[in-house]
Amino acid sequence: MTVSKVSMTGLEATARALVAPGKGLLAADESHGTIGRRFQTVGVANTEDNRRAYRQMLLTTPGIGECISGVILFDETIRQRIDDGTSFVDALARQGIIPGIKVDAGAKRLAGAPGEQVTEGLDGLRERLAGYVQLGARFAKWRAVITIEGTRLPTPLAIDANGHALARYAALCQEAGLVPVVEPEVLMDGDHTIERCFEVTEATQHAVFHALVEHHVQLEGMLLKPSMVLSGATCPRQAGVQEVAEATVRCVRRTVPAAVPGIVFLSGGQRDELATAHLDAMNRLAGPRPWELSFSYARALQAPALAAWRGDPARITEAQRIFSHRARCNSAARRGQYTAELERTVA
Ligand code: 13P
Repeated sequence: MTVSKVSMTGLEATARALVAPGKGLLAADESHGTIGRRFQTVGVANTEDNRRAYRQMLLTTPGIGECISGVILFDETIRQRIDDGTSFVDALARQGIIPGIKVDAGAKRLAGAPGEQVTEGLDGLRERLAGYVQLGARFAKWRAVITIEGTRLPTPLAIDANGHALARYAALCQEAGLVPVVEPEVLMDGDHTIERCFEVTEATQHAVFHALVEHHVQLEGMLLKPSMVLSGATCPRQAGVQEVAEATVRCVRRTVPAAVPGIVFLSGGQRDELATAHLDAMNRLAGPRPWELSFSYARALQAPALAAWRGDPARITEAQRIFSHRARCNSAARRGQYTAELERTVA
């Protein structure tokens, strides 16, 4: 290892800033298809201007920079401007928020592995990353999807293919000066137990770190964005908050090297308050925790604000108040200080 690799690099400084105390990430990088499904639930048409207006509502929320360190943008959004002509990137900078960008091209069917997916987007990625750096991005995200189906899925092939893609993406990001947020999501869909989720999550994270090391990814200059260890959504026995927190931390203790500055969990379809409670319980656990445990939620931060907004300009202030509240609750959970009283407190 060279001396420069031992000293703190720009990548490490950015990664640490993204998991600064009390702060986490907002994932606002829904593809057109995904945001369309979210908009449909509140009767908003999936047009370019509605997507811009919605994200402007979120990202110009007053004081949001106190709880949100970074926002993951979509390709369309990083090129858009808010009403006063300021780019989204500059509007984030005004609040001290670091702009990030989703760079994968989505999970596609993996040939030879029925029911499983691999994330595409490596072709031309070096050039695309250079373009995003020009636009002001400082970090990036790539999501891999792992499906549990009994003991049949996932197959080792799907785990390896996704680990390989994540590692190639992460290495390209660091070459470009971007912090890679490495997201292996084990889906909560299915009737599997929390024990089965643990087994699959552990195997997936082991494979991902093995691939990252093989591809010479500097662990200090990245973040892991995993799913929590949960009961499957339709499992008859749903593990409680404490059990989820203990299983999730036990899992990452086994798999995530201490050199990684932070673990930023996705919410994955959990109810918003439950996602906050799980993060809080993890941060209250005793025992060694060499990395920051934080959030990178999309749905669990956005869902109540979207429902309040409903595309109505007259409801922006109320929607921002609700968004700010969720961000504050998660900021407290980040420190293990989330309480029922705080949840009920109206800002
Ligand atoms: P959720 O928090 O809604 O799972 O989204 C996080 C994310 O970025 C998925 O890629």
